[in-house]
Amino acid sequence: MADAAGGQGWPRQADVPDDVAREILRRGEPDVLGRMPWSSNATYLVNLTAPDGSLLAVYKPQRGERPLWDFPRGTLALREVAAYEMSEALSWQFVPDTVMRDGPAGPGMMQRFVEHDPDEHYFTLLESHPDEFQRMAAFDVVINNTDRKGGHCLIDSDGHIWGVDHGVSFHAQWKVRTVIWDFANEPISPATREALTEALARMRGDVGKRMHELLDRFEVDAVRARIEHLLASGVLPEADPGYHSYPWPLV
Ligand SMILES: Nc1ncnc2c1ncn2[C@@H]1O[C@H](COP(=O)(O)OP(=O)(O)O)[C@@H](O)[C@H]1O
Ligand SMILES: [Mg+2]
Repeated sequence: MADAAGGQGWPRQADVPDDVAREILRRGEPDVLGRMPWSSNATYLVNLTAPDGSLLAVYKPQRGERPLWDFPRGTLALREVAAYEMSEALSWQFVPDTVMRDGPAGPGMMQRFVEHDPDEHYFTLLESHPDEFQRMAAFDVVINNTDRKGGHCLIDSDGHIWGVDHGVSFHAQWKVRTVIWDFANEPISPATREALTEALARMRGDVGKRMHELLDRFEVDAVRARIEHLLASGVLPEADPGYHSYPWPLV
């Protein structure tokens, strides 16, 4: 995708300033470029144009969500936005800017596209980025991610690690399914502890309010409970025996 984005006249995405990108993501006019390869839902790459420039984004209309037995219909897009809000509340910036808005196939989530090297993923990046992935392991506990595949971890040209595809997160029941079990039973770092404490405080204020607009009340309570549990145990959890703790395919 890096070549597709860079080679056809689009600006280098990392060069679009964050505040400009923020504005275009919310108000830009979408033009569908194609369907994302490897997507299981209707997931589109779109070009957004606004007076101050253009931006590539990933658009997932609620209408295109594949029905699942354990998540209510039409809620996956909201969960993607909640994951973004949580990543910001933790100051971890794992999730590209994500909003709910209207698009060519109706309301859905619109997420800033991260130009990345498609050959890189969790398994190629782990050794060189242990701190980021320990944090991501904690992040997936907080959001109760049921689908952290290796390919949902991206690295951009500035070396920043991103996580994408958080539609099947925030279930009230513990369901973590991930490839990131390398940190099981490891103590969380002091910086992670600090971020979790801060996020918990923000859950009582502005962040909590926004989460209630995106999730049901049991799901919001469960976010709080998982943060409290992580802080109390002080270590990252291990996979539950007998549960399908690994996603398929792994990448
Ligand atoms: N914000 C993004 N920036 C760049 N690539 C992305 C982004 N979101 C998804 N992708 C790419 O598109 C693929 C499919 O998107 P994904 O979110 O996994 O869709 P689905 O919900 O259909 O599984 C991902 O594996 C990833 O390679
Ligand atoms: Mg996916």
